Order: sequence, then C-alpha cells, then structure tokens
Amino acid sequence: LKTLFLLLPLFASYHPVALSNDLNLSLFPTNFLFGTASSSYQYEGAYNVDGKGQSNWDNFTHGGRSRTVDGSNGDIAVDHYHRYQEDIDLLEALKINSHRLSISWARILPKGIFGEVNLAGIDFYNKLLDALLLKGIQPFVTLSHYDSPQELEERYGGWLSPQSQDDFSFYADLCFKTFGDRVKYWVTFNEPNYLVPLGYRSGIYPPIRCSGSLAMSNCNEGDSEKEPFLAAHNIILSHAAAVHIYRTKYQAEQGGRIGIVLQHEWYEPISNSTADKLATERARSFTFNWFLDPIIFGKYPKEMENILGCLLPKFSTNEKKKLNKGLDFIGINYYTASYVQDCIYTTCDSRFGISRTEGSYMKSGGKNGVSIGEQTAFSWFNIYPQGMEKTVTYVKDRYNNTPMFITENGYAQQDDPNFTLEDQLHDFTRIKYMSNHLEALSTAIRKGADVRGYFAWSLLDNFEWIYGYTVRYGFHYVDFATLKRTPRLSASWYKQFIANYYKET
Ligand code: NOJ
Repeated sequence: LKTLFLLLPLFASYHPVALSNDLNLSLFPTNFLFGTASSSYQYEGAYNVDGKGQSNWDNFTHGGRSRTVDGSNGDIAVDHYHRYQEDIDLLEALKINSHRLSISWARILPKGIFGEVNLAGIDFYNKLLDALLLKGIQPFVTLSHYDSPQELEERYGGWLSPQSQDDFSFYADLCFKTFGDRVKYWVTFNEPNYLVPLGYRSGIYPPIRCSGSLAMSNCNEGDSEKEPFLAAHNIILSHAAAVHIYRTKYQAEQGGRIGIVLQHEWYEPISNSTADKLATERARSFTFNWFLDPIIFGKYPKEMENILGCLLPKFSTNEKKKLNKGLDFIGINYYTASYVQDCIYTTCDSRFGISRTEGSYMKSGGKNGVSIGEQTAFSWFNIYPQGMEKTVTYVKDRYNNTPMFITENGYAQQDDPNFTLEDQLHDFTRIKYMSNHLEALSTAIRKGADVRGYFAWSLLDNFEWIYGYTVRYGFHYVDFATLKRTPRLSASWYKQFIANYYKET
C-alpha cells in the first residue's frame, strides 16, 4: 500500500484527471480570473533595503520574540523582492491569468505623507507589474494588506486618528497615478474586519491596543472600548476617500475597478432557536457587515447601532454621500466556518464570550468547541466547503448581487519537524479542500451569483503573521533555510484544473 501511495504522485502527473474533481467547469464564466494571492509583508522581505521605511509589522515583530509563535519576523520572508522573476516563472508555469499582490506603503512612502516618495520602491513595483503583464498575468493589487508606515502610528496614532484618511488618500492617489495604467483591479484594504479586532481589541496584532473582554496580556492599560469602532470608522472613510479619488480622477481614463476585501467566515446558528439565529445575525453584523453595510448602504448594521449606541461613531451627511455604493466589487476571503450560540440568555465560556460591544455571542470553532465540518490540525480552522456557497449566496442577497471575487481560499498545513519532504509535497488534503470549495463556488454561480474570479492562498509558503513560519499554505513548499521553492502536488492539480477550464469554456 505504501508503494502505491508513493507512486500516486507519478500517476497523478501522467493522469492528472485522477486528481481533478469532476465539477462542471463551464459553470465558471469566460474571462473568469483564476489566480494566486500574496501580500507584501508576507512575501517581500528586504525590510530595510533600497530606502524602504519601517512598517508597523517591522516595528511589531522587532519588539519581542514572543509576538510570533516561533519568534520570527518578515525581514526576509520568502525574499520575493529579490526573487520576483523566479516567482513569476512559477505563476506562468501554473498558467494562471491573474495574481493578487499588495504594495508595501512604507516601501514607496517611507514616512507616509510626511516624507519623500521612495523612487527605488516605485521602481520595484513597476518592474513587478511589467513582468507579470509580460506573461499575460493581470495584477490584482491591494493598497493595504495589514502593513502601513510606522511613522503614522507615532505621529498621530494611525487609524485612531482621522488624519489617517488624508494619509491613505495621498498614498492611494500616488498608486493610481503611477501604476493605474497597468492595474485594472484595485483593493483598498485587506480584511479590516480582522485587522481591527486583532489590533485594537485583543491586541495580538500591531498596534497592540486593547478593549473589551478579549484583551490579551500584551495590552496597554486603559485602551478605550471605543477604539476598535473608531479605527474601523477611519478605515471605512479612508476607503471611501480612495474610491472617490479613483472615480473622479482616474477611472474613466484607466478603466479599472475598485473594491475592498473582507474575511467572511461562515456563521451558522448552533440550534434552530430564535436566540441563536439572532446571535448569528449579530455575529455577521459585528464582522463583515460592519464594513460592507456603511460602504454600500451608508450606515452601520442596525444590530451594531442598537447594541453600541454612542460607542459607534456617526457618519456626517457629506460622508454618507461619499459612502453610497462605494465599491465596484466585493472581495471575499473564505476559509472556514463556525457555529454561533447566543450568550445573552446562555452563559458562555469566557474565552469565547464576546463583550457586550460585540453583541454577546459565542463562536464555537476548532478544538474547544463543537466543530462545524471537518477539522484541520490548525486549531481555528474547520473545513466546511458548503460555507463557500452559503457565504457567496448571503453576500449576493444582502448586497444586490454586487460583483464578487473570491480573493482568498486555501488550506493551512501545520508544520511539523518530523515531516519528510515527501510529506510536505504530497498535499492531497489541500487538493481535496480546494476542489470541494471550487465545486461549492460553482454551485453558487449556477444559482446566479455574480462571481468573477478565484485566488488561491497561496503561491508559496510564507510568513503567516503571528504564526510565523509554522503554518504552510503554498502550492510550492519553501525551505526557509535556503528559500528554495518546490512545487507540491497541488501545483500540478491547479494547473490541470485551469487547463481544463480553458478547454471547456
Ligand atoms: C487572510 C490574510 O489576508 C492573509 O494575509 C493570510 O495569510 C491568510 N488569511 C491565511 O491566514
């Protein structure tokens, strides 16, 4: 049996269909973008090279080894800054038609609005974009994927200050002006609905601000309960300002589209009780609808208004005007799902019980709770492909079928020092995960959802934030000592999947 297992990859490479799912690929529209996703801090490295400024993540990871589980940082990451050409060759080998990347704000504006433009940084992104386009790969570009210049934090408190809106507008304008002739898909922010709770409530991400019952030990005393809502408010208005600039100054000439990316964990009520169903709506309101409702409808979800009262900032009439329909597409990062239980009438485990500022619900995912779907070794991660269809359908119904992209979906492989290279490369579970999620996505499309692309996280193993290098998501295994990239089986599977798509559409 073992020999058979070892021979399987061989068999797979000669008979790739053996690893393909049999979903109907013609369900994916023509011109659908199939790609991979990445981000600057997780990939680039070169953290202090060629005039780059210090980012909030440089500052955070250099502030103490205990800030990431393995004491690591993104100083080198996968050295994409120096190896981008090699990585683009890998993208080309997969025959994908699009790649999602982010610009490091601190690389091109080392001190934000307060300093000079770093021409070497501009040059890097010019080369990267040109090299992608040369291979027929559409760049899908995020302006802010968690990292921002540390200077902004120190000058005025970053996202807590309305000044951040001017700073972000200045940066966005520079990017549209400089790169917009080649970039046709812009994302303002990646997952602000993660950045805010982790950076301003639990304090496990920079800028380590805390409020509410989830505060961790790193936290600064006395951070106010309002802070997460204030930071989110400034991010929402920064998004609106960037969209306004793009629409009024660049869109007609450049012909691109602009949107935002949110993490959409699927929430399912743990029972059929009204209390649990209401708790599930609260959970959605306090996570993705928190950002999408204001951007699309000009106001926060009613659950947030009811629960937070004056803790929730207000939009002025002028701001509401800017917010209205403030995007061309919604980016969805879908990985996992959780059950939600009401905590108003039930006493919840305090580790999961969310403070009154989150409307009192308990998310139960992973080892410590009742799990939905199948679990991975990575503790928070439940595998629930149906959640892909349900999420897309939910977003479609709530936001009037605004065009959507799956901007991330991928499988986390917990690293283990006992793994052999073979264990690392034979990622059958990842293939199964992605096939099943793509199948669920195709069902949502068949039922009418306007989805225009799918980006797998990720091309390469990379720096996974506070998990450092202990969790691997790549189609390519990266040996972090030598930075050598080696394709996993999933790379051949994705390549074959895309080839089949081209054949059938
Ligand atoms: C979402 C984030 O955008 C990305 O940076 C991260 O690595 C993946 N999820 C995997 O956790």
